[in-house]
Amino acid sequence: MRHGRLLIMNGPNLNLLGTRQPELYGTDTLADVERIAGGRAEELGYKADFFQSNSEGALIDRLHEARGSTDGVVLNPAAFTHTSVALRDALLAAELPVVEVHISNVHKREEFRHRSYVSDIAEAVIVGAGIRGYVYGIECLDRALQLHERRSAV
Ligand code: DQA
Repeated sequence: MRHGRLLIMNGPNLNLLGTRQPELYGTDTLADVERIAGGRAEELGYKADFFQSNSEGALIDRLHEARGSTDGVVLNPAAFTHTSVALRDALLAAELPVVEVHISNVHKREEFRHRSYVSDIAEAVIVGAGIRGYVYGIECLDRALQLHERRSAV
């Protein structure tokens, strides 16, 4: 059983999950995400911290805080995925493994959503799995942390 800490972070407009474009994002709320993801994290031996903001700066500040005090990040950067070099730089500066999650399949949507500033620095990218994607994200992060531990042990 591990005793790590994970940060589950959500970007702009995801506070409206459940009522925002339910045909795309479903009717589960951010509180449901926190309950399900928090439960899976706990089963795997982690304590999960949750953070959502509509502000790019607040997300960046939270990543700075996570540096050194968190083992990994499951991040749905929402629209900042497609626009934010600053968020990418903050992820690199935090030196933490990150799994990128999108509730919808961004590749089935507008072309501008096909580009991500996060995917090429992520351990894994999960798209289109609905809010289960956060659970898969935690599982991927756990695997990445275990592989890292094994590498550091040799
Ligand atoms: C999203 C996809 C993004 O393109 C969009 O801006 C979001 C949500 C998703 O979870 O599918 O806000 O990240």
